[in-house]
Order: sequence, then structure tokens, then C-alpha cells
Amino acid sequence: MKLRKNIALVTGAGSGIGRETAILFAKEGASVISIDLNYSKALDTLDEVNLYNDSSIALECDVSQSNDLADISLLVQEKYGTIDVVFNAAGTHSRNLSANNSLPEEIWDRVIEVNLKGTYLVNYHFVPLMLKNKSGSIINVSSIMGLVGYADGFGVGFDAYPPSKGAIIQLTRNLALDLAKNNIRVNCICPGYVKTDLTKSLHENPGKLKELESKHPLGRLGTPLEVAQTALFLASNDSSFITGSSIVVDGGYTAQ
Ligand SMILES: NC(=O)c1ccc[n+]([C@@H]2O[C@H](COP(=O)([O-])OP(=O)(O)OC[C@H]3O[C@@H](n4cnc5c(N)ncnc54)[C@H](O)[C@@H]3O)[C@@H](O)[C@H]2O)c1
Repeated sequence: MKLRKNIALVTGAGSGIGRETAILFAKEGASVISIDLNYSKALDTLDEVNLYNDSSIALECDVSQSNDLADISLLVQEKYGTIDVVFNAAGTHSRNLSANNSLPEEIWDRVIEVNLKGTYLVNYHFVPLMLKNKSGSIINVSSIMGLVGYADGFGVGFDAYPPSKGAIIQLTRNLALDLAKNNIRVNCICPGYVKTDLTKSLHENPGKLKELESKHPLGRLGTPLEVAQTALFLASNDSSFITGSSIVVDGGYTAQ
């Protein structure tokens, strides 16, 4: 087992990539703290996690709220004494926020608040626990949209999603440089299109699915498990000399 006796925090653990990663980390021996805005989904994940590790917990949390994270960091410190791995999967997309008729500026603010500020806040509240131990692995989640532009976005080029994800790559590099002397590694993953709730409106539309599949040289969308396996690699000692990196998991999308 690659994460035996590790304590791992997974954000956005109620669905998709976060859920699959929480379960894989538990299978590999970690006690997993699954946090999500949607508490009932986090509890569903905990049911599965508990099959492999029964010292795990699930908590409700909005990663854009510093107070939520301060409380959880304290709780983790009291219950587990430390944190070894942080996986930042909580995220949202402008496409999915537009349904509630928000103004474009409100959608922009929420995407930046959850994706970018949320990633910053989780790092901010959990790095101090890692500093005490002088070890740890942080994995942020960016996207291929943090690396390349795309034309099918929301709002003719004004979509906040790509900027939010691009900034995560820079946040990752900066943190990695600052924390290397304390033996804390910080990396990020840039997935291509993956079949999850985030992309449901796309992959449940047969025409759109075909179009997206054709944009990935491997001819298909990714699975949450394929991203989770990369997260496991970055969390474990298998990647002990890797820090400040962005690992692309995209079926060749950005190689073109
Ligand atoms: N699915 C893809 O194609 C794809 C591609 C590239 C990157 N990503 C990124 O991967 C990450 C996971 O996405 P996914 O595809 O698994 O999506 P998902 O919608 O299946 O899961 C995201 C989870 O995050 C939670 N969440 C949303 N806002 C939150 C908040 N403010 N606080 C706490 N939890 C919150 C949701 O409740 C949900 O459970 C996201 O950061 C996403 O941007 C996804």
C-alpha cells in the first residue's frame, strides 16, 4: 500500500475526480478527510471509503470560505495531529453556474472564488500542519484549459474557468519553490475532458460527446480513475523528486 498510515484531505470528494481519489487513497491505506459543499454526497463517498479505512471522516465545507477551512484544519489537527496529503479537487465551471441566471460578473466571481481562491485557502490553512512535520504532498487540480485557450467556452472569451485554472499552475510553482526547503512537494494535474457531473451537459449530448472525443487523440474522454491514479503517484513516494510540476492527463489533447 502506497499511503499506509497517511492522513489525506480530499476536497470536492463528493463527486467525480475527488470521489474516485478519496476511495483510491483509502484503498492505499490512507485515512481520508472527504470535504464537499454537498454534505450528502461527501457522506456517500465516506460509505465507500469506510470499506477500506474506517478512521476516515466526511465534512461539509465551502472551500471559498476561510472560516470553514480554519475550523476543519483545527479539527484535523485535534483528531489526527497532522496531514500528509492534500488533494484539491473542489471546482466549478461557468457553464454550470449560468443556469441560475446570474449576471456574467457574478459567474466570473464565483468561478474565481471556488477554483482559485478555494485552492489558495486550502493550501493556506493546511500548509502550517505540514510545516510542523517538515513533509507532505499537495496536489492541486488545474485543467488543460489552464494551458490552452478554447473556443467553445461560456461568454465568447470571457469565461473565468481558463484563467482560474491557469493561475493554479502558477500558484503551484510558487508554493513548490517556497516549501521545498521544508520537504513539502506541491504539484498539479491538468486533466483533459473527464466524464463527471462537471461535464454532464456536454458528454450526455451525443453530438457534443463525439466532437469532444475527436479532440482527444486517444479518441475518448478520460475517467475519474485515470486522474485519481495520477494523484496517487503524486501523493506517494513514487514521485519523491517531483515538485512544482504540472502533469497533463489529457489523452494527447494539448500535444496537438
Ligand atoms: N471533468 C473534467 O473534464 C475536468 C477537466 C479538467 C479539470 N477538472 C477539474 O477537476 C476538479 C474536479 O472536477 P470533477 O470533474 O470531478 O467535477 P464534479 O462536479 O464531479 O465534482 C466537483 C465537486 O466539487 C464540489 N464543490 C463545488 N464547489 C465547491 C465548494 N465551493 N466547496 C467545496 N466543494 C465544492 C461539488 O459539490 C462536487 O462534489 C475540478 O477542479 C475541475 O475543474 C475537471
